[in-house]
Amino acid sequence: MITGTGVTKTYRQRGGMLAGRDVPALRGIDFAVPRGGAVSFIGESGCGKTTLGRIVAGLETYDSGEIVIDGTPMSPLSPKRRQPFFRRIQLIHQDPYSALNPTRTIQQTLTAPLELRARHTKRPGSWVDDRAEELLSLVGIDPGYVLGRYPHQLSGGMRQRVVIARALTVDPEMLVADESVSMIDVSMRLSILALLRDLRERLDIGLLFITHDIATARYIGDDSELYVLYRGQVVERGPTETVISAPVHPYTQSLLSATPVLHGLERPGEERVVPTEALDERQGDSGCLFARRCPFRTDRCDGERPSLVHGLDVSHEHACYHPRPRGVIPVEAVA
Ligand SMILES: Nc1ncnc2c1ncn2[C@@H]1O[C@H](COP(=O)(O)OP(=O)(O)O)[C@@H](O)[C@H]1O
Ligand SMILES: [Mg+2]
Repeated sequence: MITGTGVTKTYRQRGGMLAGRDVPALRGIDFAVPRGGAVSFIGESGCGKTTLGRIVAGLETYDSGEIVIDGTPMSPLSPKRRQPFFRRIQLIHQDPYSALNPTRTIQQTLTAPLELRARHTKRPGSWVDDRAEELLSLVGIDPGYVLGRYPHQLSGGMRQRVVIARALTVDPEMLVADESVSMIDVSMRLSILALLRDLRERLDIGLLFITHDIATARYIGDDSELYVLYRGQVVERGPTETVISAPVHPYTQSLLSATPVLHGLERPGEERVVPTEALDERQGDSGCLFARRCPFRTDRCDGERPSLVHGLDVSHEHACYHPRPRGVIPVEAVA
């Protein structure tokens, strides 16, 4: 079980329009991924998804709040003592092209971490090759075909499978998949998503699935939870199907409006959601973070930041003063 409470992270900007300013990437995020469970974080570019994924995988520090892994809070531990905890959480990058060393065969890529593992767990040397083959089969590729090859000889989808096999060499408890299918050919995306779902079922591995594409969140498991992130704050959260089929936050509704696969959900005659203003990071931080773009904003939204609360359904939370089911509208119709 991995939990986060009030996790915050602020970056001081070095260059660009915001040079010298502190930009909050995460503003107090609470989440929990149970053992073998699946949680998706969605939101548009810059909302803090990668920062969260890197913090959960131990690759980035946090300013305040706490990450607790199997009951142990991480911040009191020295970096060295944290390591074995974070090793159980493996990050799968979005780019399978840069994730593998181009000068190593797939066999070399897998045996290096497996040899360490064998020494650690006092297994015989012969275990290493067997395990490499086993892991490749597990991720759905023929070991005979890939073991002797170099990354450039493989397709993007196959590379991503190798990256996943490498992450499995340390027997992780959870995978963090950060936009793991966004750079892969569309035709192969579904099969990689199916693989992640399959690994959850077969190995009881937890999944933190990060995506800007709300439609892909549906594929990682019927029992998954969806968190909608907006400018570093969770604005809606609940069972994935509930949030997708009956969102109540205008931001979630606008995201769904831009998702062509959900055209069928349009309900004529209902209040429609259309984002009214482009994202502007320089805008003030008092009040609701979405207020400037929100067609339903009132004075209250400008004055005070809404926090995450639940409605009648306690599993479905939102941070909005005007939560309501509204019809979604396909983006083509907006233009
Ligand atoms: N290393 C960094 N230095 C400065 N700012 C950063 C850094 N990483 C991320 N940020 C900023 O933090 C915010 C969240 O970024 P990120 O977590 O990458 O979002 P996402 O993955 O959702 O696109 C953005 O405003 C981004 O510019
Ligand atoms: Mg990112």
